[in-house]
Amino acid sequence: MSTSKPRILVTRGIFQSVIDRLSEHFDVESNPEDVLWDRDELLRRLQDKVGVFSTGTERIDAALLAQCPDLRICANMTVGYNNFDLSAMSAAGVLGTNAPDVLTETTADFGFALLLATARRVTESEHFLRAGQWTRWSYDMFSGAEVHGTTLGIIGMGRIGQAIARRAAFGFGMQVVYHNRSRLDAATEAACKASYVSKQALLQSADHVMLVVPYSAASHHTMGAAELSVMKPTATLINLARGGIVDDAALAKALRERTIAAAGLDVFEGEPRVHPDLLTVPNVVLTPHIASATPGTRQAMADLAVDNLIGYLVQGKAVTPLNPEVLSRA
Ligand code: DGY
Repeated sequence: MSTSKPRILVTRGIFQSVIDRLSEHFDVESNPEDVLWDRDELLRRLQDKVGVFSTGTERIDAALLAQCPDLRICANMTVGYNNFDLSAMSAAGVLGTNAPDVLTETTADFGFALLLATARRVTESEHFLRAGQWTRWSYDMFSGAEVHGTTLGIIGMGRIGQAIARRAAFGFGMQVVYHNRSRLDAATEAACKASYVSKQALLQSADHVMLVVPYSAASHHTMGAAELSVMKPTATLINLARGGIVDDAALAKALRERTIAAAGLDVFEGEPRVHPDLLTVPNVVLTPHIASATPGTRQAMADLAVDNLIGYLVQGKAVTPLNPEVLSRA
């Protein structure tokens, strides 16, 4: 009888504790040098694997699955899973899992970091200071937008949107309006002091707009030129969600022409590339997709992916399955 362990692939550099835990159950091929494998390389390495620990950027689609007949589970360490073609995975009997909840509060904190930095012109003024341009105090130097007591519009009112709403309402005395595919129940609305409005009403009334909507074909360019033109000229836009939710070229134009005041972006279309026009406008704060990046939260996200791999491949059940129909067929 063969005693060999099932083989799994870890696609990117990750905590050693992740490799150690997985190695108790599996024969693990990892990527300690954190090399960015192209699609062919990923396919080659997936050949004899039953599971993959993924980081949200590896595209798992019908073409890949057709060439990986042994694969049974893809476990993202991210809450976003727009790298998965879930219907192709279900058709191939491959389970997809993500890492919700464990990053909610950390990501909401970062939403506020970006909002405050953007509205109060923190990075723009720091660049000015570092460049040696600060020679005197003046009454209107880097005067920014008020945050407390203003209206925050949240598009996408899932767990992270709700955590942002609570901070806004109870911490900053903001009025919170939201738009979502479906309206929250009354108790949840009351818990985050948020009112449901149409997208148009939100864009017209909000002093600050925060995007926390998951990426899908339906949410592609949720904010394009038409939507940006409805926002107040004094308003700020924050994208914490995914690249592609905002039309970055249209946003750069709006920022350059000051049809909106400023933007704070943690995610970009085609990242890690950034639209060149965004790099040359001063009224934008740019961060490299770090909203969930604290050691504790990234560890918790990675641990949840490990729980899913061990749970499914060893015990036949996953903690956060995205296509649970696969479980009943396993
Ligand atoms: C997620 O979990 O989807 C984040 O965007 C990655 O930090």
